Amino acid sequence: MRVSWDIMSNGSPIIIVNLKAYEQGYGADGFDLCKIMEEISIEHNVNLAAAVSAIDLVDFSDNLKIPIFAQHVDGVNYGSHTGSILPEAVRYSGAVGTLVNHAECQMSWEEIEKTINRCKELGLLTVLCTADLESSEKGAHLNPDMIAVEPPELIGGDISVSTAKPEIISDTVELVKKINSDISVLCGAGVKNQTDVSKAISLGSEGILLASGVVKSSEPRKVLLDLIQGL
Ligand code: G3P
Repeated sequence: MRVSWDIMSNGSPIIIVNLKAYEQGYGADGFDLCKIMEEISIEHNVNLAAAVSAIDLVDFSDNLKIPIFAQHVDGVNYGSHTGSILPEAVRYSGAVGTLVNHAECQMSWEEIEKTINRCKELGLLTVLCTADLESSEKGAHLNPDMIAVEPPELIGGDISVSTAKPEIISDTVELVKKINSDISVLCGAGVKNQTDVSKAISLGSEGILLASGVVKSSEPRKVLLDLIQGL
């Protein structure tokens, strides 16, 4: 079943799990992890979504009832772009949207703008990843659907953005909302438990983008059940 944006536009915060290129995050193992997310999202009526490998987009979108995002898309049009991830192909795969400019897949501002605009043309949601206030401000002027602020030095670590840099969450929310109140502000980096989540939400974040805490865990169900308590 392919899931539409409606599921996520219900005003409740969302947790997007980025499967990155972790060993546990692609193919059958990645699918099993997303299945757990699907079960939890239905059972507990919470918004969980996954950002998955381009290779898995079709399978996961067709067979899971959670929104599936691409991890990256190229802002290209049809043509001679060998190896590019075409926005139309991502739309065709059933994904609801894509991350843009993740810290591990950075783009120039020109590419970011092109990508956001191409995605808009196709109805793909964009989650623009930013590293700080300056890039969040610049990015907000490009009107993505969401901005996820993630201090790069905290990504993959054990100290969460909520603990190490709480002010970046509240300041980003304030700044972005002043520019375009329709943009949802998410945050991420080092988020591991319900306290990290609830702290972020209380600082104005409308969701969390996270990866290692769930994907690398030997007990992802337990971690997810804990995380959603913070929503
Ligand atoms: O895309 C989410 C990410 O960069 C944060 O990663 O492992 O710190 O949750 P992690």
